[in-house]
Amino acid sequence: MLGINKKSYERIGDNLMKSPHSLDIHAGWPVGLLTAVSLLFIGSFAHGETPTQASSVAELIAMFDSSSCRECHEQIYEQWEKSHHARPLMGMDDWIFMASYLKRGPLAIRTGEKATKVNFPCFKCHLPQIKHATDEVAAEIADAILKDDKPTVRKLNISCLVCHNEKAVVHGRPERNVVYGNKDIPDHQGYPVKKSPLLKNSLMCGQCHGLGPNLEFETPVQCATLYGSHLHAYIPSGGAQTCQGCHMKNADHYMPPDFNRRDELSARLRESLPMEVQTLAYTFQPVEDKLFPMVVVKTKITSKAGHRIPDG
Ligand code: HEC
Ligand code: HEC
Ligand code: HEC
Ligand code: HEC
Ligand code: HEC
Repeated sequence: MLGINKKSYERIGDNLMKSPHSLDIHAGWPVGLLTAVSLLFIGSFAHGETPTQASSVAELIAMFDSSSCRECHEQIYEQWEKSHHARPLMGMDDWIFMASYLKRGPLAIRTGEKATKVNFPCFKCHLPQIKHATDEVAAEIADAILKDDKPTVRKLNISCLVCHNEKAVVHGRPERNVVYGNKDIPDHQGYPVKKSPLLKNSLMCGQCHGLGPNLEFETPVQCATLYGSHLHAYIPSGGAQTCQGCHMKNADHYMPPDFNRRDELSARLRESLPMEVQTLAYTFQPVEDKLFPMVVVKTKITSKAGHRIPDG
């Protein structure tokens, strides 16, 4: 769950510890009632409920802020920074695509009302950490989107901690203050690294790269379906590579293709979708004085991908 960002955790912990106390002094609440209130809070921790929800965008950003990872994982950080995962709310050419959905159509904010998480089924994959935030945060994000506040929207991303904590475990909840990796490193600075069974598995990516329509929402949506194609077409026809095997060789976190780098994209597609063309020209002469030039063009496109292209 939540973040591993120690500071925000401690701050929230601090508040829980301090507020009844200060109330005690200032408002003079009866001690019995205070104890009951504290027990309620502690109870919800003990039952493994989400202990705290970010109540502002700044708090949500802090919970999943991964800028501290840069210091030691510089290369990976720079690869990630260039990837689509670093800007999941931006479409081509830095355009905030959710703006139009919030203005028109079934996800639009109703006149006179504020946005809530119901307006953002898209965040299941584009910003999964939203589940650790309140509806007020959704309203604040909607404001930032509608104001085209790019500096704020850019900070809402699929950060290191989204993949290495939130999405690294599927059986049970990820532990707080843990970074999941391929092996255990108890003395990893900041947060201990624990081995995740999932990190090398295509399912890790499949959690967001889509099986088909998402029918669990009030307004069902469909976006990415590529994982479905990987499971149902590529694997049954003998495919033997994982997403990571093709897209993350040597743990490269750039994870192309990048649709904003058109030349690089065309070069990649020429390589990954090779086209063979055979042609034969001849003349057709149905009667003695009529000549028709004819051509046979035979093309064959072979896909080297582990799924359909394009997706969507
Ligand atoms: C002070 C330096 C430092 C910082 C800060 C740091 N790391 Fe590391 N990290 C390391 C070192 C050193 C290793 C061990 C490399 C090894 O033994 O293979 C490591 C290993 C890892 C691994 C496991 C690699 C594997 O083999 O599976 C992951 C995942 C990881 N770090 C993620 C992070 C994330 C995410 C952050 C930010 C929250 C972070 N690290 C911050 C130094 C750091
Ligand atoms: C099941 C997870 C999932 C859901 C739900 C989802 N998306 Fe996506 N979306 C993705 C993934 C993964 C990609 C990138 C890979 C791809 O397109 O195959 C993507 C790509 C996109 C892109 C292209 C981005 C670019 O840089 O060009 C847009 C725009 C988009 N989604 C909008 C939406 C909107 C709007 C919604 C909600 C109505 C939504 N998505 C819901 C997973 C999802
Ligand atoms: C989209 C999900 C995703 C994001 C975002 C992500 N990682 Fe990873 N990371 C992975 C996966 C999957 C692997 C395992 C790849 C493998 O072993 O084939 C991995 C591997 C690693 C490793 C081990 C590298 C090695 O040599 O084996 C480190 C260290 C790491 N990540 C750090 C980071 C840091 C730091 C960030 C943020 C800058 C980050 N990751 C962001 C998915 C992600
Ligand atoms: C938390 C959800 C999430 C996870 C986990 C995730 N992705 Fe993505 N991925 C996305 C979204 C959302 C986008 C599109 C962002 C955008 O441009 O708007 C994307 C974009 C991409 C792209 C760029 C092409 C494109 O269509 O935008 C590639 C390649 C990619 N992901 C591969 C992977 C691989 C490989 C893994 C597993 C190691 C993985 N992803 C894990 C959500 C995720
Ligand atoms: C056999 C290798 C292979 C495997 C396995 C594979 N991919 Fe791909 N993928 C490719 C190639 C090749 C392309 C074409 C673009 C390129 O070369 O960058 C591509 C394109 C994509 C795109 C862009 C789709 C688009 O609409 O253009 C995304 C997103 C993506 N892969 C994610 C994944 C995920 C997630 C998985 C695992 C479920 C996966 N890939 C498995 C090779 C592979």
